[in-house]
Amino acid sequence: MDRIRVRGGRQLNGRIAIGGAKNAALPLMATGLLTEGPVVLRNAPDLADIATMAGLLRQHGLSVEHDKAARTLTLSGNVNNLEAPYDLVRKMRASVLVLGPLVARFGRARVSLPGGCAIGTRPVDLHLKGLEAMGATITLDAGYINAEAPNGGKGRLHGGRILFPQVSVGATENLLMAAALADGVTELVNAAREPEIEDLCLLLNAMGAKIEGLGTDRLRVEGVAELHGADHSIIPDRIEAGTYACAAAITGGEVLLEGAGLTHLGAFARTLREAGVAVEEVPDGLTVSRLNGLHGVDAMTEPYPGFATDMQAQFMALMAVAEGASMLTETIFENRFMHVPELNRMGARINVHGSSAIVRGVARLSGAQVMATDLRASVSLVLAGLAAEGETIVNRVYHLDRGYERVEAKLAAVGADVERIAG
Ligand code: EPZ
Repeated sequence: MDRIRVRGGRQLNGRIAIGGAKNAALPLMATGLLTEGPVVLRNAPDLADIATMAGLLRQHGLSVEHDKAARTLTLSGNVNNLEAPYDLVRKMRASVLVLGPLVARFGRARVSLPGGCAIGTRPVDLHLKGLEAMGATITLDAGYINAEAPNGGKGRLHGGRILFPQVSVGATENLLMAAALADGVTELVNAAREPEIEDLCLLLNAMGAKIEGLGTDRLRVEGVAELHGADHSIIPDRIEAGTYACAAAITGGEVLLEGAGLTHLGAFARTLREAGVAVEEVPDGLTVSRLNGLHGVDAMTEPYPGFATDMQAQFMALMAVAEGASMLTETIFENRFMHVPELNRMGARINVHGSSAIVRGVARLSGAQVMATDLRASVSLVLAGLAAEGETIVNRVYHLDRGYERVEAKLAAVGADVERIAG
């Protein structure tokens, strides 16, 4: 298993190109099941999760070409298998996004239940209740979800008013795709407003869907009989941008995040500024630099435009070396503090009380062997390593590879002493 070695203490200066957003690309790829296509996705990142989604779609029968040099994914062809097997779904929860498109277009689908994961139990009840409200019959057997459209799968899903009791990115995406091909009008109320949802709406509309209310928590979808191919450019990855913003801030350098934008960072940009980090929009993207010292500020994770849960671990690494204390409260996932004991092994002073972590800043972290069990936790350890004295080895790098493209190369290019150790 590969590891990453970081020798801390170097300032980062220069430019980092931000790739296409993983969490936009995954649902965008699932739209390939809604049409014979082709659906062309530009600015596609080269990540393990993208390869997993491509593998899943191929086993449904689609042709998925990933031209990595051109950063383009092309999806086309016919679906000949309506089952998403456990072996693929367990690798990546976003696999459940094939459910809505398959049942809307083909009348039935059988998709493995994703199960829990390191950051929490993560049920899919909202996806299933929404499909039921659109006329699907859902049964669970042997760890699989069976979904069937009306008339034993021969009829079509119908529109309806779906009020989400809790904001869910994945359920909003699944139901948007299903509603695009349903009979009549579907209203999604208290829908997720993440930029990735708007990106999905833009692609669906380019494919012939009729969605209104983009960027709001109330989406109105008028179903159409069929969708066609389209050409779409994936939005920049706001979480990758936020992560490198933390890298610049924790080392005290100045980095230009090419392609990044302020709006997509939501409350995170404001919180960074409060902590003493300058974040400025420039024509090419965002520049991030530390002003004087870092100071502790509180943050609470919330759905967009609130502070993203996907930035909580990285921000905690930053707060670990800030002056004063900060309280970071996680409201989205119940078990997203797995980086805490690892950061503490590097000399951080963090205590968890329920869903809040109290971080007392220390003057210096020290390098150590660390490992983490999810993507954002892993990268927070790389960030801590950049600021630590001595050498940090981050184990289980495959978590990082799910969502960060060539993290060591991007950091090394702006002056970090970091390398991948194969093995
Ligand atoms: C998406 O996951 C992202 N993944 C996650 O990014 C991100 O952390 C999360 O949204 C929140 O922003 C992708 O986009 C592929 P949710 P998703 O449904 O859609 C509960 C990363 O690091 N819930 O918005 O699975 C759920 O348990 C990843 O890149 C239900 O109770 O998240 C959670 O507490 C990790 N029932 C909350 O809602 C449901 O049916 C929000 O989850 C669905 C969700």
